Amino acid sequence: MMNTQLYDESESASLLQWIHEGNYDQIILLSDANTHGFCVTVLKKMIPLFANCYSIVIPSGESNKQLEVCNHVWQLLLQFHATTHTLLVNVGGGMLSDLGGFVASTYKRGIHYINIPTTLLAMVDASLGGKTGIDFESIKNAIGTFQHPKVVYINPIFLRTLPERVLRSGIAEMIKHALLQGSTQLNRILDWELADFCKVDAINDALLFKKSIVMQDEYDQHIRQNLNLGHTFGHAIESASLLSTQPLLHGEAVMLGLVYELMLSHLLFDLPLQIILQLMPLKERIFPGLRRIFTFDELIPFIKQDKKNNTYIQMSLLSQVGVGVWQQAVTETHIQTAIKKTEQLLIKTY
Ligand code: GLY
Repeated sequence: MMNTQLYDESESASLLQWIHEGNYDQIILLSDANTHGFCVTVLKKMIPLFANCYSIVIPSGESNKQLEVCNHVWQLLLQFHATTHTLLVNVGGGMLSDLGGFVASTYKRGIHYINIPTTLLAMVDASLGGKTGIDFESIKNAIGTFQHPKVVYINPIFLRTLPERVLRSGIAEMIKHALLQGSTQLNRILDWELADFCKVDAINDALLFKKSIVMQDEYDQHIRQNLNLGHTFGHAIESASLLSTQPLLHGEAVMLGLVYELMLSHLLFDLPLQIILQLMPLKERIFPGLRRIFTFDELIPFIKQDKKNNTYIQMSLLSQVGVGVWQQAVTETHIQTAIKKTEQLLIKTY
């Protein structure tokens, strides 16, 4: 049962109180080579309770979301005498909270953990929802569990040292949430600049929306699949770009994936083209110059490989703003048409 508490920068005292009430026998911090410096130092100043905790630091980067790294963390937890009453505090982006959550959910059959996300992408998506896991045999998140963090603590101060390209990439998930939330939220964000998306209220809105979906479908059997909007194309674009000399970040690929999948939604459900046209200036403002064109032949092998597409191709699309459709069957002809029409949109100036 999901019982994750959300606290933001104005509620550090509540976080502290929550930890005290948990009566943990010890607290262990998990960070990576990137977050260990600035983020952990800032955190220890904000929450002095963390100052004298054991700290485990793992290598950063998605390529380290591996069993060997879990092994190392499990070994250190044993060495530090972590018990079933120990709290693990994950300080980092999505890779760290996925791995840290997995380690916590398996160590001694499960210990409590909290997430302190340090990237925008992790703040609005990966930190909440209980999907933990690691990559295995080159398959993303092949091994994992569902176990919810006890707390997610949001503080935009951690965004200050992020490379701007990484910061911007988190906004694609916020745009996705707005498309699923409905026209009021979508119209609100259409004029936003980068700084507007980084405000704590904007992050909280996106997170609360995700929480409302996860609470209806914790195990991703139905409505939660709406959150995959933009991701079937997005993952294919990300994988195809990794074969090129200019790989895209996950969020950049999801931004392009959203445009392609909105075009598919237009073809299949008559989603007004106007919605896509309204979105293009925002896309250009937040992701300047992101206009990479991919051919059907480049994308289709990856679309077919997508874990949701075992027998035929299915996607999460939008029948109208605020109304998602999951497990929608899509033909290769639809995909071909959507790619051609999206190409024409991407080369225009907005
Ligand atoms: N990132 C989508 C989900 O958590 O279901």
